[in-house]
Amino acid sequence: MDNFTFYSPTYFVFGKGKENETGHYVRRFGGSRVLIHYGGGSVVRSGLLDRVKASLDKEGISYIELGGVKPNPRSGLVYQGIELCKKEGVDFVLAVGGGSTIDSSKAIAMGAVYDGDFWDFYAGRAAAERALPVASVLTIAAAGSEGSDGSVITNEDGMYKRPYGSEVIRPVFAVMNPELTMTLPPYQTASGCTDIMAHVFERYFTNTRNVEITDRFCEAVLKTIIKELPKVLEDPNDYEARANIMWAGTMAHNDICGVGREQDWASHNLEHELSALYDCAHGAGLAVMFPAWMTYVMPHDVNRFAQFAVRVWGCEMNFEHPEETAREGIARTKAFFRSIGMPTSFSELGAKEEDIPKLLDTLQIDGRTEGFFVKLGRKECEEVYRLACR
Ligand code: NZQ
Ligand code: ZN
Repeated sequence: MDNFTFYSPTYFVFGKGKENETGHYVRRFGGSRVLIHYGGGSVVRSGLLDRVKASLDKEGISYIELGGVKPNPRSGLVYQGIELCKKEGVDFVLAVGGGSTIDSSKAIAMGAVYDGDFWDFYAGRAAAERALPVASVLTIAAAGSEGSDGSVITNEDGMYKRPYGSEVIRPVFAVMNPELTMTLPPYQTASGCTDIMAHVFERYFTNTRNVEITDRFCEAVLKTIIKELPKVLEDPNDYEARANIMWAGTMAHNDICGVGREQDWASHNLEHELSALYDCAHGAGLAVMFPAWMTYVMPHDVNRFAQFAVRVWGCEMNFEHPEETAREGIARTKAFFRSIGMPTSFSELGAKEEDIPKLLDTLQIDGRTEGFFVKLGRKECEEVYRLACR
């Protein structure tokens, strides 16, 4: 096990009706003038936004609103949010929605107290030293942004997507009522769960040895999704299954599944170029990329993939030919994605093989590599993209 530090100070408020306590927690974490940030309208239609506003009113907290965050959130709205915060003296950013809304809120929270261009952080030109406090009322189990230090924004000037991570944007609290996820269309539920699994895969396939505790956390999260997701696809109102999935989403990405070892993240970065170019759901893009990446890198550590097949999918170990077991685990992963309605190839996603050079260009892979389990240069990334076309 490698040395590590782990600090995950988000206050989680989990369960039925908890959104009605939002105002109480905003006050507790020092907010008095709030920007409520939300997406394309699901929180308006469900009545959630009104309940959140009522809970702020109850505490005498003033607020302004900025809706319109698109999935794969855009830089343009972030600039608007920053202006608004500066003009209105906002001291707290409250995201009501999913990962896109939370990520946009995080970018606004950094930009509002920074003199330069917020994109400096995402371009690697500056590190954020502070931010307004950010919190969320979560409506989809997926990105894990409610407990993560990350934010991913699409720059509209070139349509490319970049992540940024900093402790200053880890949310101070997250309200998580699993009932709020019951209005999700099945495709979004499945795409969210694929993202949850992907966050674990990025951490499970590692070159660091003897991190048994972290392996077992990872396997628990994966097995939970595999068991609970079919239940909610069958019955969207299954509270217990929704609750298990929602907490799994947070556990998959607050790094409890990653500490003590090297992580990969090539598949996420290869996917980000897909969701930036085709505006597909991030999870759907991952369902296409992961089986391809797994197929490509499996020979690097057959035993690790065989362990994954046996422990997660219940495959029988073929001791004479462990690569058979490893291959079976990958096949089971792909079949699972298909069974939950996810695309597993470029064409099913609406992506085009002839766009691969463009994807590699926006990835800016020349002269560097992606991933750590196996380091991928331009040629190797291209091969993974090509495998994803099959
Ligand atoms: O915009 P609205 O109308 O709210 O609709 C959203 C959106 O269309 C809808 N939705 C959300 N909750 C709903 C609902 N519809 C009905 N009922 C509900 N309860 O779902 C759609 C997708 O929302 P979005 O916020 O985009 O989903 P998700 O949470 O999957 O976030 C995806 C974004 O997170 C980034 C991805 O790249 C992507 O841009 N990621 C962020 C990470 C992080 N910050 O740590 C890590 C991840 O790996 C990921 O890259
Ligand atoms: Zn993700």
